[in-house]
Amino acid sequence: MLMYRYIGNKAKLTPYILDKVQQMIGDTGTVADIMAGTGTVSLELRKKGYKVVASDVMTYSYHHLNVNLCMKKPPEFLGLKDIITDDSQCMYESVLKYLNCIEPKKSFFYREFSPEGTPRNGTPSRKYFTSENAMRIDAIREKINEWIDDKLINKSEESLLKHTLIMAVNEVANISGTYGYFLSSFKKNSLERLELKPVDFYDDNNEGHVIKLGFAENLAATIKADLCYIDPPYMKRQYAANYHILETIARGDFPDAVGKSGLRDWWDQHSKLCTKTKGLQSFEKIISDMQCSKFLISYSEDGLFTLEQLQECFSKFGNVLVQEIDYNRFRSNDSKLPQKLKEYLISVER
Ligand SMILES: C[S@@+](CC[C@H](N)C(=O)[O-])C[C@H]1O[C@@H](n2cnc3c(N)ncnc32)[C@H](O)[C@@H]1O
Repeated sequence: MLMYRYIGNKAKLTPYILDKVQQMIGDTGTVADIMAGTGTVSLELRKKGYKVVASDVMTYSYHHLNVNLCMKKPPEFLGLKDIITDDSQCMYESVLKYLNCIEPKKSFFYREFSPEGTPRNGTPSRKYFTSENAMRIDAIREKINEWIDDKLINKSEESLLKHTLIMAVNEVANISGTYGYFLSSFKKNSLERLELKPVDFYDDNNEGHVIKLGFAENLAATIKADLCYIDPPYMKRQYAANYHILETIARGDFPDAVGKSGLRDWWDQHSKLCTKTKGLQSFEKIISDMQCSKFLISYSEDGLFTLEQLQECFSKFGNVLVQEIDYNRFRSNDSKLPQKLKEYLISVER
């Protein structure tokens, strides 16, 4: 699978997480992953044979989860058979070939996120993508919108195409780790041509998973599981701000691009867990509302809350145990933060 640079992505920590899940509930059962992000942990849980209830507040996560949990092969894209007549064995690959070749278009991404664009709010042009790549993204995402409007693709096909487009966009974005801002000059990867590449599929245990979109605080009461894994944001910076461009691709909309960096308005996805004032209350609401008696929480040494604060909060619900893991942190390229860091895996049993 392609590398997904996402703050807090647990790709390197999944072995520890899965060991702990296995210790706590054994080899079978339902695990909730309620801040699922890229879907990395959910996919590993699926591979181990668990049923997964996964959710996140970001729309892109919803599409990643649809692919990671519910697909074992690409859907058939039957609605596009009249448009894409290619003799390749796999319709998904034919669709990608078609989208890779469509005429680039000067539209929203070109105007707001490329150096030749003229942002609507009058700020200087932005350099998230080369003008060529921005035009390709415009053409591809508007074609996907057209297929959705004409009912030529279903929900799974939409998720797979958006997932594939996001993976391709991550490869050519001119950023240092997050989409919070763009770099002043184009770096090597961003000069490459944007290309949709077929993603990998895992061919077992794709039935019975549930995917939801929304705040964990609101969904908790609707979720029943043997264990709930919580991987919250650690910092003040909101995911909705850091990954605004991925959200725009996932939603397929045309929001106002605000300020110099062109962020969409993200207030509807603002997370209380990124605030010192409301974060602990959110944890309490989630744990008390969820139909579940075992929780596993990831947290980082340099997070908003100290380990002691978290322990105090969680001990209201039951027994708390902490495992410490030494970890090389995610850093944006120009970060001066030290590289070594402790990660905590906190288990709570009611
Ligand atoms: C540390 S990341 C999770 C990373 C994930 N485990 C992975 O491997 O990709 C935290 C996630 O929590 C989500 N989030 C933040 N606040 C939330 C809330 N209140 N409810 C649901 N999701 C939330 C963010 O959108 C982000 O994807």
